Amino acid sequence: MKLHAIGFVALAAASLSLPVLAADVTYRKDIRPLMEQKCLGCHGSSAPYYGDFKEDAKKYKAAMKGPRMDTYADTIYFIGWPDTGAMMRRLDDGKSSKSGKPGNMYNFLGSNDEERQKNFKLFKNWVGEDGWVLNRWKARGDVPGVTKEQVSKMKLKY
Ligand code: HEC
Repeated sequence: MKLHAIGFVALAAASLSLPVLAADVTYRKDIRPLMEQKCLGCHGSSAPYYGDFKEDAKKYKAAMKGPRMDTYADTIYFIGWPDTGAMMRRLDDGKSSKSGKPGNMYNFLGSNDEERQKNFKLFKNWVGEDGWVLNRWKARGDVPGVTKEQVSKMKLKY
């Protein structure tokens, strides 16, 4: 009887911790819908791949098109490699940047401060608190190169 009671408590505790796991931020559940709402108007399937974008950035900017990021793979391209940290530099709210200024895509995260902060936190959570580094792959100017340890902290759950 006593053993049963202990087993029951253990089971209850285990099932209580499940919702915490289920609440992990994922691309499919959280990020894709957010990007559909806020980003893909300019970064969607009619936008150019990064290589094409770079070749004619002026034209695409004038047409309000940024590089395409409408799949998981095309999104993490701007986080891990090869365009390391681009997403973080553009989306940061200013707290992780040297200038203290938000990145130029931060504004698109919402129509007011509250919504922007909420969606910013969601994004940051997805990348991982410790993986949220604004460094580039290779150091450039005063932006340092990312370390392997920093990259290994990126969560980016699918
Ligand atoms: C109104 C159009 C528009 C919206 C909405 C928009 N972007 Fe952009 N984005 C652009 C354009 C144009 C560029 C290229 C010009 C530049 O670098 O600023 C760009 C550049 C970027 C870059 C840099 C890519 C690189 O060159 O390395 C990232 C990252 C980015 N956007 C992410 C986002 C995210 C995430 C969202 C949604 C929260 C978003 N953008 C919403 C138009 C947009």
